[in-house]
Amino acid sequence: MHALLSDYAHLAQQRLPAAVWQYLAEGSCSGGFGAMPLMPRPLADVRGGHTRLQLFGQPLAHPVLLAPVAYQRLFHPEGEIATAMAAQAQQAPMVISSLASLPLAAIAQAARPSDGQAGDGSREGHGELGSSGQGAWFQLYWQGDRARTLRLLQRAIDAGCSVIVFTVDAPIKQASLQLPAGISAVNLEAPLPLVSAGSKVFDGWMQQAPLWQDVAWLRQQTRLPLLLKGILHPDDAARARAEGIDGIIVSDHGGRVLPGSVSGLQALPQICARLDGSMPVLFDSGIRSGFDTFIALALGASAVLVGRPYIWGLAANGAMGVAQVIRVLLDELEMCMALTGCASVAQIGRANLALAR
Ligand code: FNR
Repeated sequence: MHALLSDYAHLAQQRLPAAVWQYLAEGSCSGGFGAMPLMPRPLADVRGGHTRLQLFGQPLAHPVLLAPVAYQRLFHPEGEIATAMAAQAQQAPMVISSLASLPLAAIAQAARPSDGQAGDGSREGHGELGSSGQGAWFQLYWQGDRARTLRLLQRAIDAGCSVIVFTVDAPIKQASLQLPAGISAVNLEAPLPLVSAGSKVFDGWMQQAPLWQDVAWLRQQTRLPLLLKGILHPDDAARARAEGIDGIIVSDHGGRVLPGSVSGLQALPQICARLDGSMPVLFDSGIRSGFDTFIALALGASAVLVGRPYIWGLAANGAMGVAQVIRVLLDELEMCMALTGCASVAQIGRANLALAR
């Protein structure tokens, strides 16, 4: 089954203009999952097993989410709407990027669970309800100052997003792709001008970057679950918890921000050890199969996000392609669970890995 996702990568590469494929593919793929063999446990009774879980007060059908990915109309004319429809169909929360290329409200609407799907029936419209399951989440980038950031946050809340993911690992945005005419970050105000004198980094980008005190301020601005994405140091994870953050996403941004940095997979065990179950730890970067998903869960993640694989599906076959990619991952995850004797995701742990230590 693993081959299927690489088939989508192959199709995507064929369909996308070379520069867009290049933009999608850049960064390193963390890998490393293969070094952690699974431990089969035959004869275990896993009848009636399932992948359901509760996360931030939401009932989820399974622990696979769609990572925020910018400008999805680059990959398919229906862009984020196609992704949202697939997310809805496969009950995978979609994290809408700050850099989405379609209006937030329309994406959130397409992602909203229809009646009869998991949820409590009170989901219409307002994220503040916070218990609706599977509605879209929103990924927030700092907008240079508090007032602008708050206006964007408010737009996401008004659109009905139920969880806020504040990405903190990418304050420096070097555009590697010239966006084609007609594709832009339609939900953002015009960017603040960068100071041109002095260092482009210290006097430019870092002047507009958030600090820990901005995290504390942001925490005061919403009662929705608030996550930090891009945490790799255990001390930062502990600081996030101390600031009242609800969860973190251990991520190396797919190796796209700091070449040579520790990978998310390398950082995950220590962070989980430090937090010791005191708040959910999500994981992304390099998940390419349900086997990888299982390993991340076994190392302590509560759920995972996938990025590039579903974009391959989007480029290859629109909403249907995204839905198929999610389905492949879930089928593989269920297979791993069954063959390692896990009837629920709560049962997945380090004992399911044949680790040397
Ligand atoms: C990203 N990622 C990202 N993250 C984020 O917080 N906001 C964003 O707008 C984007 N945009 C974006 C564009 C593209 C083309 C890629 C490939 C990635 C990072 C993403 O959410 C995720 O952390 C990484 O992609 C790692 O996961 P994968 O791709 O290895 O599964």
